[in-house]
Amino acid sequence: MLTQTLAFIGGGNMARSLIGGLIAQGLPATQITVSDPMESQRAHLQRDYGVHVTANNETACAAQIIVLAVKPQELRQVAEQLRRHIASHRPLIISVAAGIRASDLHHWLGLPVVRTMPNRPALNSCGVTGMYASPEVPTAQRELAERIMNAVGTSVWVEQETLIDAVTAVSGSGPAYFFLLMELLEAAGVAQGLPEATARKLAIETAYGAGMMAHHGSDAPATLRAQVTSKGGTTAAALAIFEAQGLKNTVFAAVQAAADRSAELAVLLGGNKG
Ligand SMILES: NC(=O)c1ccc[n+]([C@@H]2O[C@H](COP(=O)([O-])OP(=O)(O)OC[C@H]3O[C@@H](n4cnc5c(N)ncnc54)[C@H](OP(=O)(O)O)[C@@H]3O)[C@@H](O)[C@H]2O)c1
Repeated sequence: MLTQTLAFIGGGNMARSLIGGLIAQGLPATQITVSDPMESQRAHLQRDYGVHVTANNETACAAQIIVLAVKPQELRQVAEQLRRHIASHRPLIISVAAGIRASDLHHWLGLPVVRTMPNRPALNSCGVTGMYASPEVPTAQRELAERIMNAVGTSVWVEQETLIDAVTAVSGSGPAYFFLLMELLEAAGVAQGLPEATARKLAIETAYGAGMMAHHGSDAPATLRAQVTSKGGTTAAALAIFEAQGLKNTVFAAVQAAADRSAELAVLLGGNKG
């Protein structure tokens, strides 16, 4: 387990999930400090996990690892405030904020960072996180960052920061795509005459089962799909409609739109072009 002290700046949903995951993996709560302006938030964190809490970000940032877990629009002000308090001990900085580039953070903090893009299922400990480290971040710190993010699921590294926009478009926004498919499958089931509750249960449990098969097996989704599709059968009839009506183009266009929006937001939130 980690031997370093760890601070969370912002004690909301994402911090809470990471704290829960790290403590479940054996990290002593006494190694963790959370800074949050809201009194009730601090009281809950202390009661639920036994972590140190403070309303003062500057106190918290004495830690050896700092996780920036405030909303993206608050991050610049927080980072600029921390700058002079981290200059001498140079902690590992991990940002979980969507849309804020590592280069902007480096500029605001005066230190290189590991930028991460977790997704919503991290709050249920089954997230997937895209990770990018500024080139100046040493390998040992990258490994440390990965261990921390893996407390709420699994992770992948990208070697160019622009690929975080693709990660955002695939896994960051991805849960909504699967929810939409469940929603449509439920509605289509109702249109076939199933009671709503039955159609919903069938849609959700089928998504769960398919996810479990893909997650636990070693076969690619295309192989799994082929395995469950008999020639001339019901699944083949449905898949032919998906193909004929352009599902592939729709998915590619949707992912492109999300990636484009992610890049636009990075410019808006970071204030720098490129
Ligand atoms: N939740 C997700 O599914 C998800 C997924 C991917 C990435 N993320 C990223 O994770 C970050 C946190 O998201 P979240 O869902 O955990 O948000 P959240 O629940 O709103 O948590 C943010 C916390 O930061 C506190 N805060 C605000 N200003 C602060 C300051 N100056 N110093 C210290 N703390 C401050 C907020 O307090 P107040 O409530 O008093 O403002 C709040 O408790 C975001 O940047 C988001 O992009 C979240």
